[in-house]
Order: sequence, then structure tokens, then C-alpha cells
Amino acid sequence: MASLPPFPLPSTPSIPAEHLESTPALDLFKLAAAQFIVDTLPEVALDKAFEGVESGKTGKNALGDFVVACPRFRLKAKPNEVADKLVAAFKPTPYLASISAAGAFVSFNLQTEAFFALVLSQINTQTYLTPDEDHSAISHFANLSLSDSGADKPPAGLKLLKKNGYGTNKSGKGKNVIVEFSSPNIAKPFHAGHLRSTIIGAFIANLHEANGYDVLRMNYLGDWGKQFGILAVGFERYGSEEELARDAITHLYDVYVKINRDGESDPSIHDRAREFFVKMEAGDEAAVGLWKKFRDLSIVKYKDTYARLNIFFDVYSGESQVSQASCASALEQLQGSGIVEESNGALIVDLTKYKLEKTVVRKKDGTSVYITRDIAGAAERFDKYHFDKMIYVVASQQDLHLAQFFKVLDLMGYPWAKTLQHVNFGMVQGMSTRKGTAVFLEDILNESKGVMHDVMRKNEAKYAAIDDPEFTSDKLGITAVKVQDFAGKRINNYEFKWERMTSFEGDTGPYLQYAHVRLSSVERKNAPEVVLPPPAERATAINVAHLSEPKAREIVLLLSSYPDVVRAALKSLEPATICTFAFRLCHAISSAWETLIVRGQPQEVALARLWLYVSAKDVLGSAMRLLTLEPLDRM
Ligand code: ARG
Repeated sequence: MASLPPFPLPSTPSIPAEHLESTPALDLFKLAAAQFIVDTLPEVALDKAFEGVESGKTGKNALGDFVVACPRFRLKAKPNEVADKLVAAFKPTPYLASISAAGAFVSFNLQTEAFFALVLSQINTQTYLTPDEDHSAISHFANLSLSDSGADKPPAGLKLLKKNGYGTNKSGKGKNVIVEFSSPNIAKPFHAGHLRSTIIGAFIANLHEANGYDVLRMNYLGDWGKQFGILAVGFERYGSEEELARDAITHLYDVYVKINRDGESDPSIHDRAREFFVKMEAGDEAAVGLWKKFRDLSIVKYKDTYARLNIFFDVYSGESQVSQASCASALEQLQGSGIVEESNGALIVDLTKYKLEKTVVRKKDGTSVYITRDIAGAAERFDKYHFDKMIYVVASQQDLHLAQFFKVLDLMGYPWAKTLQHVNFGMVQGMSTRKGTAVFLEDILNESKGVMHDVMRKNEAKYAAIDDPEFTSDKLGITAVKVQDFAGKRINNYEFKWERMTSFEGDTGPYLQYAHVRLSSVERKNAPEVVLPPPAERATAINVAHLSEPKAREIVLLLSSYPDVVRAALKSLEPATICTFAFRLCHAISSAWETLIVRGQPQEVALARLWLYVSAKDVLGSAMRLLTLEPLDRM
């Protein structure tokens, strides 16, 4: 029976002693190889050796599990001689089974059974917790008061990755990051750009948490401006308190469209709207009261939709929340710094030197503008939260706007301006219902749900076995929408394609869910004949020598690479990094079903295979949750 390898390993600057125990198996085995290199070649530093141990190619051209290019150590001896020296000195250890040289390269094979046992038991001892169990385990900025910020509780039933779970790491420990995302405009359509910001932003927030950061999720609503004057005038004519309470977003949009139509032939509507907005800016109680009602009820409705998407916010901020005093003081500071000039009564910042054009920061009539609120708002956020990094998830149409206000903050001398980051993305073409009518995200989600429901109904027998087809079809539909978006690079535009995204074939959301459901069912279907012992006992009770097929090895190696994938994704901030991993894992699993059979096998073989499938389910589930998806257990 395989036993877990001992921990005779040294610590390195990249893996300090206190992290050794929780270090992913793959890193530990690489560290063992690095230690051997250093013992043999004392001139090489342990960290350099560790960096030099790379995962080998799999498949036909495979050399070994780890490959080391000796030239990278820049030693006096010729690289080929260095390689030979390593081979001559090698003796098997609990971590490494063999070594071979090919020219200037050496490759190691790891002790398969010890490695498998460690990978699988690390995965299995990972647990999830729900927000109800321990809300404090989910990272939030230390002293943020959740009650006064309009924060959501994470959706009930949502399982969050435990901070130390398999695949997570502590590289961001002690650092605060604000992720601003979604940020729709009240009374205007929630368009494809907002959908992309919502799901990409939520992913980026999860990803930072998985990498050990404390994350604050912020929604910066478009909730100030003359459109509220128009709304107020419109509400007098077309408003209904009942409708407003039922679905503020749809109702306000309706009112907005109607009154704008009236405004085309009746300019007095615009005059009244402007008057109303002036009152709002002046703090008039009635005007602000009405505005606040519109805002509050819209947020109620937004929260429903976000919860449906498995997404939540810690703070509902917005343009209205940036104080006039902050805007005024930002402008004053700007005027003092000599980077603004007056032009026809307006104030502009000239950024042509930086190839960022000129931009108005105060209009002729003295009202503040979008960019000024962003400048002042960023400073307010720094004062309040002292973030180490702040990410704005906004469509690439606003590249110039973000570059401009980042530059202005930099020129104003704020050292934290350098920590601001814009995560952008391309456009979606043709996001509408199949009849071509949608303006609202909900219509898209409902339609997607309907399509998935139709697909499910086609298999009568299976359909009858589903507990809650409404729930299941909704989750499938949402997965389809998200995965279509996540599958490509952020910056690429893509076309919204109903047929493709809702198919169970190809790299789609339904395909991922199907793979997870099938993995979940293996455990159910093989009970009570084959039942896994508790997670902590599996390594000693299960003989991984029975996982000798190449398919099994491929899957374990993939599972062992997941922690690296999570780290790599933090560099790219691409959902596709995680998505691609999830697809690779699903492909490997779907080609394993025929050879790695559980049912009817000798108990020992059945247990080993079941352990592999359950571990694969855990890792696939983690990857899906990181992508904001809710993995299904049945469909
Ligand atoms: N509400 C804006 C829009 O819909 C997006 C806000 C982006 N964030 C920001 N800090 N400017 O266009």
C-alpha cells in the first residue's frame, strides 16, 4: 500500500517552512528534485534549482515527469557534463524514482504511487464551507461594516472555496484588492458590456481570493445625472408605485423610453428635467427622496439578478456616492498642479503629451462630469479602504477614459495611482433573444433557461428523474451564457450564438455541467457496494497501484497541475485560463469511462478508480466555482 511521502524537504524562499505542509504535491516533488540538484551541484541556489524543474511533456514525446535544462544554471562545466554528473549521483528517494540524461537535459521520473496518493488526498481533504456556516472565513476587508454599505450576503447555498482549499495559495496574503465590476446605469439597459463586466469581474474577484487576497467587490452604479430628472418628470406622467415595487428596473426603463419620446416634440420636458437635476445636486429633500427611491428599488432588483448569477457585492457604490466636496477639492488640486487649462469657461486637462488627448473635467455650467467623479472617487476609496490594488472591469470602449483618469491621478502625485488596473474586454455581437427583442439581461437568462429546458425534455426518462427541472434548466442556461463568454480571450469580440452555446457537444457550458453530473453519479451509483472511506483515511486504505493505466496517470497529472493553473490565471486575468483547464480535464475524463470502469471490478480496483473520479469531481467543481458557475450534481 502506498504511503504519503515524508517531509524531509528543506524550505526555500518561495516555499517557506510554514507553507510546506499545505504546498501542492507537484511543488513538493519538484522541490525534492531541486534539493537533489543542490546536493549534487552546491553552486546552484535552491530557489534557482526549484525554478529550473519544469513539468515534462506528456504523450508521445514524453521524456520524464520533470525536465531540467542544465544550461540555465550557467556553471563552469559544460551542460552535458553537468547532466552526466547528476545522473551519476542519483539514488532513488521517496519522491524520485529515476533519472536520465539527454544531452544537456536531465529528466526525472517521480515515485508514482507516493505522488498519486499525495495528490488525491490533498484534493480530498479540501472542504467547502457555506456562508451560513462561517461568513468570517470569506475574506472581507478587516474593518468594513457590511451593514451600512448595502452589502449582499453571498447567495444562500453558495459553496465558497475554503481559503486554504486545494488549488488556492497564499501569495496575496495580507493584501487588499478592490474589484469594481458590473456597474450598470439605472434606467438604462443592462447591455452585453455590463453582462461581461459582471461575470468577468466576479471571476477576477474569486481568483484573487483563491490566490490569498482580501477582496472587496464593488458595484459602481451609474446613478446620478440628468437622466434622473427625465425619470422624475416621466414618473409623474407614467409612473406606478406598484410596478416600481414589482420590478423597478423594467418599469423605470419603460418610463424613461416613454418620456424621452414625448421629449422629442416637447422641449419643456428637458427644461423640467434639468431643473430637477439642479435640485438634486443642491440636496433638495423631495428631489433626493424620489431619486433615492428609484435607486434603492433598482438595487433590490439588481440583487435578485446577481444572486441568480451566483454573484454578490460587498458595496453598492455609484457616481452619486462621490461627494461634491471631493470633486471640488480634486478640481482645486488639479488647478494648483498646473495640468489644467481653461477653455471657453470649461476646465480641461491636456494629456496630449501622453498621447491621451484632452479631456474636460468641469463643464461650462460648473457641473461635474463622469471623469471627475472617477478621479475624486478613486481618492475617496483609497482614503476609506487603503487598497493595495484596485481593478476596474470595464469594456474596451472606455480604454481612453480609464487611461486618462489613471494618468491624471498619477500626475496629481498619488503614489497608489500606479496600483490601478483596467481589465478590459471586447464586444458581444447579437446578444438578443431569438426573436431579436432583448434589452434586459433577464430576458436573455430566461430564454437560455427555456432552451435548456426544451433540450432536457427531449429525454423523457431522464427528465422524469430530475427533481427540480426549473432550477436545473436555469443553472444550465446561465452556465451556457457564461462559458460562451469565458471560453475566448477577454479582448476578443464574439458572436452570441444560441445553438452553439446551449449544445452539450463541444466546449460549452452544458458540456462542463454534464461532465460534473456524470462524475457525481459514479459515487451514487456504486453505493453501497463500493464506498470510499473518510477523506483523511483514503491514502492508507486505498491502493493507488491500481491506477496503472496511462489514462489514470494523465488525469492525476492534470489534477496535480490545478494549483499552477490558478497561479497562472492571476497573471493573465483570463477566465479562459481556467476554462481551458476545465475542458482538458473533462476531455480526459470522458475518454476514461470505457477503460477505468468501477462497477463489477474487484473491490481494490473499484475503490482506487472511484477515488480518482471523486477527486476529479472536486477539482472540476472548484474550477467551475472559480468561474462563478454552480456545478450540478444531477440533471
Ligand atoms: N456605468 C458605466 C457605464 O455603464 C461604467 C462604469 C465603469 N466604472 C468606472 N469607474 N468608470 O458605462
